Amino acid sequence: MASPKVSAEEIKVNIGCGLSGIPGWQNLDNSPTIWLSRIPLLHRLLKTPPWPRDVRRYDVRKGLPYGESTVRYIYSSHAFEHFTQGESLAIAKDCFRALAPGGILRIVVPDLGLIVREYLADTSPQAAQAFLSRLSLNHSLQDFVHPGSNHSQMFDAKALVHLLREAGFPQVAVSSYRQSAIPEIDQLDLEVRRNESLYIEAVK
Ligand SMILES: C[S@@+](CC[C@H](N)C(=O)[O-])C[C@H]1O[C@@H](n2cnc3c(N)ncnc32)[C@H](O)[C@@H]1O
Repeated sequence: MASPKVSAEEIKVNIGCGLSGIPGWQNLDNSPTIWLSRIPLLHRLLKTPPWPRDVRRYDVRKGLPYGESTVRYIYSSHAFEHFTQGESLAIAKDCFRALAPGGILRIVVPDLGLIVREYLADTSPQAAQAFLSRLSLNHSLQDFVHPGSNHSQMFDAKALVHLLREAGFPQVAVSSYRQSAIPEIDQLDLEVRRNESLYIEAVK
């Protein structure tokens, strides 16, 4: 894959952006529907999502397509839970490699701690079923069509902080909705994710 045509200090990457990439960022996503959506007939026939042109189909498990210490910010919302434990550590290490000193990695995931607390507080007979369904840990054929369908793991704050420390980040902290050193945070943190998410920010 060709290197992005932007200068090093401008490189900002959104991993697993879905339909929510923002202008000026390298919006990476692995969904096969990106290609299909760019062929008008298939887009209509298969009713693929309306992928913006600036989303690049790329599987981050292959390693980020950027040189060492060249990236300023990396953002990822609701993507790391789709990687296995081994993949997520390898990807976090690769983020550390690609970020410039002082560069920031912000990861947003569904908050397992919150889901467990809500399950324990739910006295209805449907609580167990609702809890299991929120984990989305089952895998099906749908995973091939849409890699964002089901989860491979879930994180609470201590697991995600540990992962990022293991990946080499000296500074890792629990953050919150739209509280960030990344200037474009109001466009990146999605309102729709607010009440279900854990926010972690790490500095290289
Ligand atoms: C649940 S969606 C989240 C989309 C968006 N970031 C949000 O918060 O709404 C997860 C996204 O990660 C993408 N994804 C999953 N595995 C990936 C991989 N290996 N490389 C790049 N993107 C991946 C999926 O295609 C999907 O669009």
